[in-house]
Amino acid sequence: MMSRPRDIVKVENGKTEDDSSNHSPPDLPKLMPGGNYIKTGRDSAKSTCLIFAPHEDECGILAKFLKIFLKHGVNLLHIESRPSTRQPGRYEFMVECAPGGNISAAITDIRATCDYFNVISRDYKDNQGSVPWFPRRIRDLDKFANQILSYGAELDADHPGFTDPVYRERRKYFADIAYNYKHGEPLPRVDYTAEEVETWGKVFRQLTELYKTHACKEHNHVFPLLVQNCGYREDNIPQLEDITNFLIDCTGFRLRPVAGLLSSRDFLAGLAFRVFHSTQYIRHPSNPFYTPEPDVCHELLGHVPLFADPAFAQFSQEIGLASLGAPDDYIEKLATCFWFTVEFGLCREDGDIKAYGAGLLSSYGELQYALEGKAELRPFDPVKTGIQKYPITEYQPIYYVAESFDDAKEKLIKYATTIPRSFGVRYNAYTQSIEVLDSKPQVEMLVGNITNELAVLADALKKL
Ligand SMILES: [Fe+2]
Repeated sequence: MMSRPRDIVKVENGKTEDDSSNHSPPDLPKLMPGGNYIKTGRDSAKSTCLIFAPHEDECGILAKFLKIFLKHGVNLLHIESRPSTRQPGRYEFMVECAPGGNISAAITDIRATCDYFNVISRDYKDNQGSVPWFPRRIRDLDKFANQILSYGAELDADHPGFTDPVYRERRKYFADIAYNYKHGEPLPRVDYTAEEVETWGKVFRQLTELYKTHACKEHNHVFPLLVQNCGYREDNIPQLEDITNFLIDCTGFRLRPVAGLLSSRDFLAGLAFRVFHSTQYIRHPSNPFYTPEPDVCHELLGHVPLFADPAFAQFSQEIGLASLGAPDDYIEKLATCFWFTVEFGLCREDGDIKAYGAGLLSSYGELQYALEGKAELRPFDPVKTGIQKYPITEYQPIYYVAESFDDAKEKLIKYATTIPRSFGVRYNAYTQSIEVLDSKPQVEMLVGNITNELAVLADALKKL
């Protein structure tokens, strides 16, 4: 769900040219770095989340803390007590403070009476620096629905569907589905119209011609499985629910409908949970080979096949994990890495170069161009790739080539260690939550888990 605002459109000498038809879209909308759905912007939620564990459990301890908030005029939006993962047998509290009041003074008072204290905030700075808010549990992703930067039904004046009331109504229908979606619900099935299916069919037919020769082997391996299991056909737009069920079986990845543009931070955070925010609507039928934003063709033909590959899934998740609580400048660098890999990545394969980026695999024109040898190819290196500028309304002059997904993942993990954060993060797939590793007992527990896994590994090796 992150693509440049065109599929088969090339801009040369200031003119916009469609590779495959006589359609000439007007000036394309300028997106912020990172493209659609990874768009920089100020997050709307400004609450401050605090987690703290009192020195000891005593009756009425919560009331004491509440008095502190009252004293400093801080309103609480949410209060939660839960067993501590840092100190077994003890409890800790998580509170979400509304903006206003003297939060700094409240924090000073609470910190003085706690064994453990941490701030997870979007805009609060304490003396340890600021830690932007990030989702800790998979259902926290529900909060993104009302933090979108623009609603999917709002079309720009130069959008092909801008003057089409039927199309606009349809877009609102899809945006409403996503806005009301909650984690754990089945993904709503959509009855696509005959016209929508026809548009899909044209794109499907054209792109699938190229996959055998241009797509990476992982994409070509998975695609027939999507045909078998998820209804990938020229005359059928697959349903997100069927695809999610398939992906869960393959890698644990799942799709989630999105109503509009998410901030880069929120979009990347979803990947940490192996959740991909996906559009569900299709481009305007007036030109099936052009779209100014990601649509279901881009997501389902470009992104989905790769999320079924274990190494690629892990690579994508590593970008997400690296983004959690990262400073804004690193979010931009990670979004740029995402752009040059998940969207426009090339990879080496038996001496050839193949495409794995969804922006390429959903664009007939650029998929051919990228492998024609006209663009500059550079090895993927997050340090350099993350600061590379790129155009958003024309074919890329530079592509980054991964030796393999595993190699890209290792580089990304190494890069993540350079991001200034005072804690480590780990995804717990059993609880579908992020563990923040910022205390010794937690790290010891993790070491214990790894030791157990090593014992299993050693035993299996002996038996081979
Ligand atoms: Fe995308």
